[in-house]
Order: sequence, then structure tokens, then C-alpha cells
Amino acid sequence: MNDSKIIAVVGATGAQGGGLVRAICADPKGGFRARAVTRNVNSDKARALAALGAEVVAADVDDANSVARAFEGAYGAFCVTFYWDHFSPERESAQAAALARAAQTAGVRHAIWSTLEDTRKFVALSDDRMPTLMGKYKVPHFDAKGESDQVFTDLGVPVTFLLTSFYWENFIYFGMGPKKGPDGKYAITLPMGDQPLPSIAAEDIGRCAYGIFQRPDRIGKRLGIAGEHLTGSQMAAALSKALGVDVGYNAVAPEVYRGFGFPGAEDLGNMFQFNRDFAAEFGEPRNIAASRELNPKLQNFAQWLAENKSRIPLE
Ligand SMILES: NC(=O)c1ccc[n+]([C@@H]2O[C@H](COP(=O)([O-])OP(=O)(O)OC[C@H]3O[C@@H](n4cnc5c(N)ncnc54)[C@H](OP(=O)(O)O)[C@@H]3O)[C@@H](O)[C@H]2O)c1
Repeated sequence: MNDSKIIAVVGATGAQGGGLVRAICADPKGGFRARAVTRNVNSDKARALAALGAEVVAADVDDANSVARAFEGAYGAFCVTFYWDHFSPERESAQAAALARAAQTAGVRHAIWSTLEDTRKFVALSDDRMPTLMGKYKVPHFDAKGESDQVFTDLGVPVTFLLTSFYWENFIYFGMGPKKGPDGKYAITLPMGDQPLPSIAAEDIGRCAYGIFQRPDRIGKRLGIAGEHLTGSQMAAALSKALGVDVGYNAVAPEVYRGFGFPGAEDLGNMFQFNRDFAAEFGEPRNIAASRELNPKLQNFAQWLAENKSRIPLE
């Protein structure tokens, strides 16, 4: 009989959940087994997780009943929502509530909620240093997550609040990689001034989550994670070294970034301004040594670049 504990992993075919499924499957004697939750059990990514030994089940976080079924019999649940698939904080809040209720209904013993700060606790809506967006948010994709923490608490879910950091994969997939300027030189553009940004390899988020499931004493805690805290200049220097081209750092003002016009530019402009103006408050919980204790494989930026530099597009 297999008496290992089931961890139901939402977003299993994605960045955060994928790292967790791979971490669980890589440690078959660790006492856990992965239940990968996906909308499409037949996708190549879902099949790849099954090939690693994960159970693969179907659920959609927009369908609360399907999530409740996916969490049935699970010891643990990794809960994450997908803001950038729809750009709606209200929908993200509804997804988080569905996850919290499913965790409560299934009686999971340890949930992890992948959250971020509700920035309105730092910058009141009336504060005009950054615009209020969508009527009641400063950083919609942060605020909706942070606001949802209370739902887990109110339902009595035994939960660890996991405060994630900026993925270095944003240089590959999120259009934030080095771009050639009118002067012909490459630069990354971040409205961070000279303040450090806590950042991490996406794969390490799941590995840290695995470390949290191994430590039930972390239930009820808020844990931040990061692989390194780096200024724009430090990231540009590391990119230059890894890519073998000169990459500068274009430290634009947040209002310039907000005006770039791509979907989510205002949200990200406010986010970086929050990261910059509250660098101490944002950085302090994202302790690197504590992250490494959860995940001994934690990478720094240079290590991540050594593995991933060929995937960074130079435009
Ligand atoms: N980019 C960053 O720097 C950063 C930093 C911190 C936090 N975040 C947050 O991370 C969150 C996204 O996590 P991620 O990066 O791990 O996601 P991701 O890589 O985009 O993957 C999401 C996976 O979730 C599944 N999914 C999407 N919609 C779903 C739904 N309605 N029901 C069930 N599954 C669904 C998809 O799988 P299937 O198609 O197989 O169902 C997809 O593979 C966002 O909310 C973002 O704000 C991002």
C-alpha cells in the first residue's frame, strides 16, 4: 500500500506548479506524491508530468466543484491563480476563493497559497504618487492576491502564505529581455531606479514550496522567497557577462513605464514603483538564506543564466 501523502498541485503544467510536481517526483522516498491539476490531461505537458510519476487530474479554477473534486483525499494543496491569462482582479479573487473553499471542503492538512502583497496597505487609494487602476487597485495582480489571504484565514484553512518574487524567466517569456535602442545598444528597462528587486528562478518557487510541505511547522506563517536581490545595473551586468554583449540598464521613471501601452503596462509600472519605493518592506520577508534552507538547490542569477542564456531573445 502506498501511504505517501498526496499534494494536489494547481498550475502543474506551468511555472510554479511545475517546479513543485518535479520536486515531489524527484524525491520518491520523500513521503509525498504529486497530483497534477490541469484543464487538459492529454496535453504534452500533462503527459510529461504523468511520465515522471504524477497522477494527473482535470479541474478548472473557474469551476469550484471541479477543484473540490481535485483536492479530495489530498494531504496538501498548492494554490496559485493566473492573473495574466485574463487581467481581471475580480476573477483572480474568485479563483482564490474557490481554491480556499476546496481546500476547506477536502480537509487538506496543509495548503500553500501563492500570494503577493496587497499594496493598498502601503499606498492608500487616495495616495496620488501612483494612479488607482480599475477603480480600486494600485497593483491589481498583487492586490487581488493579497486581499484573498483573508479568505483562507476566515475558512480556517491550515495555510502557508508564500510570497513569490519576480521570475528571471520574464527575460525570456514576458518581453522584458534586452532590447536594442536607437543607439544600437542593448538595454533592459525597469523603473526601479537604483533599488534592488527580489527575484528568483521560477523552478525554485516549486522547490521552495516542496520544502514548505516538508515542514508543517510553517503552517500559519508568511514566507517570502528569492534567489537574489538585484538592482537593474546588477542584472544588466550579469546579462552582459552571460550573453557576451554589452547590456545597459535603462532606469525609466514609473510614469514612463506605465505609458508603454502594452497590456498590463500600468499594472507593472505601479508594481515596480511599489517594489522601488518600498524596497525594504518588500525585500525583508524575501530572505535568501531562509529560501535556501527550504530549497538547497536555490539558484542565483549567474547560475540561472548559465543554464538559460541561450533562451533569452536579443531583439
Ligand atoms: N512572472 C512573474 O515574475 C511572477 C512573479 C510572481 C508571481 N507571479 C504570478 O504567478 C501566477 C501564475 O503562475 P505561473 O507563472 O506558475 O503560471 P503559468 O506558468 O502561466 O502556468 C499556469 C498553468 O496553469 C494552468 N491554468 C491556467 N488557467 C487555469 C484555470 N482556469 N484552471 C486551471 N488551471 C489553469 C495552465 O495549465 P493547463 O493549460 O494545463 O490547464 C498553465 O500551464 C500569476 O498570477 C502571476 O501574477 C508571476
